Amino acid sequence: MKNPIKITITGAAGHIGYALAFRVASGQMFGPDQPIILRLLEIPQALSSLYGVGMELEDCALPLLHDTVLTDDPAIGFRETDYAILIGAKPRSKGMQRNDLILENAKIFAMQGRSINEHASKNVRVLVVGNPANTNALIASANATDLHPRQFTSMTRLDHNRALGQLANKTNRLVADITRMIIWGNHSMTQYPDIGKCLINGTPAYDLVTRDWVIDHMIPRIQRRGAEIIEARGLSSAASAADAVVDHVRNWALGTQEGDWVSMGVASDGSYGISEGVVFSFPVTCKDGEYEIVQGLGLDNLDQSRLKTSEKELLEERAIVKDLLPKGR
Ligand code: NAD
Ligand code: LMR
Repeated sequence: MKNPIKITITGAAGHIGYALAFRVASGQMFGPDQPIILRLLEIPQALSSLYGVGMELEDCALPLLHDTVLTDDPAIGFRETDYAILIGAKPRSKGMQRNDLILENAKIFAMQGRSINEHASKNVRVLVVGNPANTNALIASANATDLHPRQFTSMTRLDHNRALGQLANKTNRLVADITRMIIWGNHSMTQYPDIGKCLINGTPAYDLVTRDWVIDHMIPRIQRRGAEIIEARGLSSAASAADAVVDHVRNWALGTQEGDWVSMGVASDGSYGISEGVVFSFPVTCKDGEYEIVQGLGLDNLDQSRLKTSEKELLEERAIVKDLLPKGR
């Protein structure tokens, strides 16, 4: 039997956390032979609800779940943790943009970055989901002054999966037939869902769909999908977000498929001309718990201007939260 790995989920009594905890504990993230210790972190007002989640986990009698810690103390929640999934934050409601949440949510990630720095495993991997996710990941990373920015990522896998779903429907193929999808940029309206490198059973996607469909329908639909779901449900996406968390962490930890890549928000190293440090979604391959940005993809002028638009938005968000970023990070 392998040693258990410790996984912290913040906001574990919330909608995404509730959908996620059971999937992680049942082995869908790390596989059927990997025992898990869950550390579920909430705010004091949500502790009663969190205890209910704990009872339900107990009632599942999951063989891989070796222990569950329920707490409102970040020092306990992040203690020696191997993976920290930062979901706990306010979601937007109808009519808001995700970065309208920036001032309310940013402080949470500054505090949690410091706490992760102090209490988590030195090899911890962090995924930020709470919005605006890219800039919150930057804030958490900047406040974890002893950890490397490569240990912090933000989630655009939901956008990636949404784009796969739209393309599969349009071409009447299976999602499993499609490789090399890309989400560039911010998890926001400026993101660029790029099917220019996609292959569908080896055929370029652009041989099977028209440019008009991509520009007039697919790209805006993915950019607005979060709002479309809020409009329909009255609540933001939860099960699909939890599903994307499982995909993101599983690929980061266990690797991506040969010949394919995934989209992750990662600290820019200057690739594709994007300012260093901002957390920007790139295509990445993963192996042995490390990611590499896919290099050398050709981008035309329109592609480049879309990347620049998203970069500009991220630089503006960084300027808004500059007081929460320790100097030099
Ligand atoms: P929710 O309101 O249902 O749950 C949030 C939970 O976080 C609540 O239980 C709350 O008590 C808890 N919380 C708040 N502050 C906390 C803190 N400091 N520490 C620990 N827990 C805390 O919201 P939700 O639907 O689960 O969404 C959570 C966040 O995820 C939102 O910001 C939402 O916009 C974002 N989101 C991101 C993506 C993405 O693709 N990146 C997708 C969906 C939702
Ligand atoms: C999503 O993309 O569904 C989430 O980021 C929630 C939102 O506010 O759109």
